[in-house]
Amino acid sequence: MKKTLLTIFVLLFWAKITVAQTQITLNTDLAKTKINKHIYGHFAEHLGHCIYGGMYVGESNTKIPNTNGLRNDVIAALKDLKVPNLRWPGGCFADTYQWKDGIGPKPNRPKMVNVWWGGVTEDNSFGTHDFLDLCEKIGAEPYLAGNVGSGSVKDLSDWVTYVNNPSGSPMSELRKQNGREKPWDVKLWGVGNEAWGCGGNMTAEHYANVYRQYATFMTDWSNSSKLFRIASGANSGDYHWTETLMKNIPHNMVSGIALHHYSVIDWNNKGGATDFNEFQYFRIMEEAFKMEDLVTRHSTIMDKYDPEKKIALIVDEWGGWYNVEAGTNPGFLYQQNTMRDAMIAGLTLNIFNNHADRVRGANVAQIVNVLQSVILTNEEKMLLTPTYHVMKMYNVHQDATLVPLNITTPNYEFQGKKLPALSASASKDATGALNISLTNIDYSKAHEIVINLRGEDFTKVSGTTLTSPKINDYNTFEVSNKIAVKEFKGAKLEKGQLKLSIPAFSVVVLNLKK
Ligand code: AHR
Repeated sequence: MKKTLLTIFVLLFWAKITVAQTQITLNTDLAKTKINKHIYGHFAEHLGHCIYGGMYVGESNTKIPNTNGLRNDVIAALKDLKVPNLRWPGGCFADTYQWKDGIGPKPNRPKMVNVWWGGVTEDNSFGTHDFLDLCEKIGAEPYLAGNVGSGSVKDLSDWVTYVNNPSGSPMSELRKQNGREKPWDVKLWGVGNEAWGCGGNMTAEHYANVYRQYATFMTDWSNSSKLFRIASGANSGDYHWTETLMKNIPHNMVSGIALHHYSVIDWNNKGGATDFNEFQYFRIMEEAFKMEDLVTRHSTIMDKYDPEKKIALIVDEWGGWYNVEAGTNPGFLYQQNTMRDAMIAGLTLNIFNNHADRVRGANVAQIVNVLQSVILTNEEKMLLTPTYHVMKMYNVHQDATLVPLNITTPNYEFQGKKLPALSASASKDATGALNISLTNIDYSKAHEIVINLRGEDFTKVSGTTLTSPKINDYNTFEVSNKIAVKEFKGAKLEKGQLKLSIPAFSVVVLNLKK
């Protein structure tokens, strides 16, 4: 009996000291790298109901409240989100887009067929002026993706001139005739999209030459409008692509190199957005977590050619991709958004923050009604997705200074495979406040976290959280606030240590003040 009691005591003691616990050390005195706000960028393509119906409803024949055809509800929500930049008009659509068809009186605009997305007729009623007006309304910097695949060097050169040249050129005069006196001074320009695929099926070597040609005729019209030219980048782990661009493009001609990576279970069997099991959940987390390896390896290649890190890595398409919702057009890529997507967002943004020295821009795909959206609309109704909430919680990191951290965390294990359960990133803002974002991707376990604050003392802690009883919970047009940000009171700050417990599949953002 005595022996049994002793064994039980030893087992209990052992269980207690082996309780799964994440240890984080924040080196607040070593903060030096800026987290570029553009990491929190978005992407809008002429695809399904992203533009038409989602953001733009036109000025006539609609009961939906709008300003110049732009939905008031969507504009307000995006303004609130602090969208730093918006990429447009694609995507694959960009390399078919004739920008001149989207300017001038709307009834006279030529129509086209959107060959990539559902074969629908594009009436060009939403064009350059509408997009740049949208950006002004939501306070985002425009990021224009130029047509390299099927457009000419002159077309792209003219587009730059139309939007940026103050006066004296046929393009600036045309802009004025169309009602815009002042240039928009657009800095962010993509030179094609997915040149290895829908943008022209080019080899890296061929694209590097094409890039040089197009970029040459994209004029910097003034010092203030010096262009930030972004080369179409690699598909996930295509390291040869990045190496070739870094080697073959003169570095004074390029400011950023792109990278695209989607979290997909299997391109031939993507699974449902809301109806999924743990196997499918784990697969998506694996794909999302690959971003760590991808940015590390692409950055290492870039370091070889650009050790001073002058050229940015811009992940201008990322997010979860599932089967479309039943009964919707397969070409419209409309999918719901659950707590699983909140996990992709929390994990991915932590990765980007921690690689802020090289990753200086990113765009979640896509902003409204397409793939991992932050907003879904249905006629006059609108809802904010879990991804919206995570991006809003994390926007405290925009342009803040990254605080380097060390983390040791237990694994989230499934069928013999492992992923780190916790991910974290931290930054100090202009007021000296410290913000820490934590994401627990574990499907079923809460995790205890101990955060050691090295370097500076803080006295107050507050927080917010995004959590829900079920991993496949989502907001609907009927119950649009099932998943909403709540206050988090569970963090205890004592003697330079923060302690908290984070529920399974949850996000917590903490704010510490001195
Ligand atoms: O975001 C949907 C599509 O995915 C984009 O048009 C393309 O660039 C990518 O393949």
